[in-house]
Amino acid sequence: MFAATSKRSILSLGSGGIYSRGVIIPLNVRALNPFPVTSKQIQHQKKIDNLPKWRQWAIYLNSQEFKRSATVYYVGGFVVLCVAFYFYMRDRYYEDRQIEHIKKKYSVDPASLSEYEYLKLKANSNEKLRPREEKKYRLYQMMRKEFRRKNMLSKDVMFEPTPESLDQWYQQQARIGTKPIPEIEGQHEAVEVDSKEKVPLSNHDNPHIANPEDTTAFFEAKAADYDNEIKWEERAVLMGKRRKWLMKQLKGDTLEVACGTGRNIPYFEPAAVDSITFLDSSSKMMELTEEKFRQKHPRFKKAAFTVGKAEDLVELTKGNDDIKYDTIVEAFGLCSHEDPVKALRSMGQLLKPGGRIVLLEHGRGTWDFINNHLDFRSDKRMQTWACRWNLDIGELVDEAGLDVTYEKRVHFGTTWMLICKRPEDSISIDEKPFYNKLFGKDFEPIKKQ
Ligand SMILES: C[S@@+](CC[C@H](N)C(=O)[O-])C[C@H]1O[C@@H](n2cnc3c(N)ncnc32)[C@H](O)[C@@H]1O
Repeated sequence: MFAATSKRSILSLGSGGIYSRGVIIPLNVRALNPFPVTSKQIQHQKKIDNLPKWRQWAIYLNSQEFKRSATVYYVGGFVVLCVAFYFYMRDRYYEDRQIEHIKKKYSVDPASLSEYEYLKLKANSNEKLRPREEKKYRLYQMMRKEFRRKNMLSKDVMFEPTPESLDQWYQQQARIGTKPIPEIEGQHEAVEVDSKEKVPLSNHDNPHIANPEDTTAFFEAKAADYDNEIKWEERAVLMGKRRKWLMKQLKGDTLEVACGTGRNIPYFEPAAVDSITFLDSSSKMMELTEEKFRQKHPRFKKAAFTVGKAEDLVELTKGNDDIKYDTIVEAFGLCSHEDPVKALRSMGQLLKPGGRIVLLEHGRGTWDFINNHLDFRSDKRMQTWACRWNLDIGELVDEAGLDVTYEKRVHFGTTWMLICKRPEDSISIDEKPFYNKLFGKDFEPIKKQ
């Protein structure tokens, strides 16, 4: 109790009490009593002082003094929460109004949407933003937050940024380590980057990404030791689970690109598959795949083993238009291709209508500290594994003109699990958003004219 009063002594002095050895004595009591603190009280106080700190605090928190002042804090806190909640809900309300406004505009003339409006509508439609769109949308949202803060009290202003105003706003934010704004449309022009000043965003601008090269000779030499050297790294991050996911997607006529030594074969389920073709540019890696496959599935006859480059997939079919696949999978191959975008485009050309490309890849992560490490060790990685591990996989997919219907990233975002489709194919019932599935509504993609 006395410890309690001592904690608020300064406050109490202002309200007419007198502070004496940690105890507040009301003025009227002092006037009557020449010895304001009794020896009993002093002893009690000493006892409390000898207790451990946590017990002193427990006694203080239990005291009437604390409870009285805590009420003020509770009420104050509640008021602050209410105000924050009000502004939060008001912001949601304005956002809703803006979405309604954009929807109306879109229904009248889809071409009239600004870049921001298009991204906002797409983000709110359950459709997946493409990786570059997502990056840009995130910047717009940051700009929007600041806009809202500045216009907290103005009721009717609507956030209607243009790409130029985003650019301007972004320049004002620029600090060391700031990334350039991504381009959504078209190819990326290679930009001169001062590596000290800016952390680049695009594969094309990143000077830390090793030069692409044909890695076939490297894997020819590595084939015999590959499994032994990679297995611990994979076990440590439970990669088996991800490989299992990849192989579960196989159905119909299938192709595995850059199959390596056949590390996915343990997860192959023949029941769902009509045929499988394995492709790798290294003949030695391919020999190991064939050996493993024949051993594990001796009765599965519709398996082919082809040595060739992913970039040449279309030429490898020798103009036979019947060679098409329902599912094409690739694990950890894009990082070692000389031209990963061409490889992805070629895969797209070999898909049957409605077919899917399923990727389990590694590349840039979602955290800067990881990406800095990937950039820093990129040359070393290229030497030891012929692998460009700091590529932005989303960008490669984007550049190849593929749509993403499923995306999951694990291991700080460095392991990419993607399902891609050709833009002209519609999404399947399984891929439909929950609402559309429930009400049997068709999923209508947002198109900017
Ligand atoms: C890192 S290993 C991955 C192997 C296997 N997919 C796995 O998950 O373990 C990369 C493989 O890609 C193959 N490769 C590299 N460039 C290629 C290309 N342009 N076309 C086809 N395969 C390629 C290499 O021979 C090697 O087997």
